Amino acid sequence: MIKRYSFGGGILEKIKRVLIGEADLKRRVKELASAIEKDYKGESITMICILSGASIFFADLVRELDLSVQFEFMSVSSYGSGTVSSGEVKILKDVNHPVAGKNIIIVEDIIDSGCTLSYLKRILLQREPKSIRVCTILDKPSRRKVDFKGDYVGFEIPDEFVIGYGLDYDGKYRNLKDVCVLELTEE
Ligand code: IMP
Ligand code: MG
Repeated sequence: MIKRYSFGGGILEKIKRVLIGEADLKRRVKELASAIEKDYKGESITMICILSGASIFFADLVRELDLSVQFEFMSVSSYGSGTVSSGEVKILKDVNHPVAGKNIIIVEDIIDSGCTLSYLKRILLQREPKSIRVCTILDKPSRRKVDFKGDYVGFEIPDEFVIGYGLDYDGKYRNLKDVCVLELTEE
């Protein structure tokens, strides 16, 4: 499957191949939910969705959880329109309720450099939750700039820029059902 898109500006956006298909994503989300259920049996949890990338994964994951779950949403600045992290993190939208004394699970789309999550975890820890863990559907361990490990990781993937299942390039492609590799070339 190769699809090419030109939006002007001299860059050709090419959907090169499916890296993780819809069926594999579904199966893995169920496995992650089972692991979370086992660890939090009898407890309630606050799931924090990191917008916008984690939105699709979050919606799938929470519906597989047979637990008492509360939703929170945070938005942090990331790449702008490029594909390389600036390393800077800014909170654009914070949670609506205090997290002190709560079991928190941060739900992310991908751990890349690790900058976003190590920053987020640090500032949420200062608010004294009962516990804090991180769940991500994708992980690119080879790209770390800071030491960071997710507690629940869907798939480790190679160093390629991916889109779909919530992940975007320049705000586009989040609605693809599969995780696909995007290639950018000169037009
Ligand atoms: P980190 O701070 O470098 O770990 O970056 C995390 C954020 O970068 C994610 O929440 C994504 O929004 C974005 N990101 C990293 N790699 C990719 C990718 O391959 N495709 C799309 N977004 C990505
Ligand atoms: Mg993101």
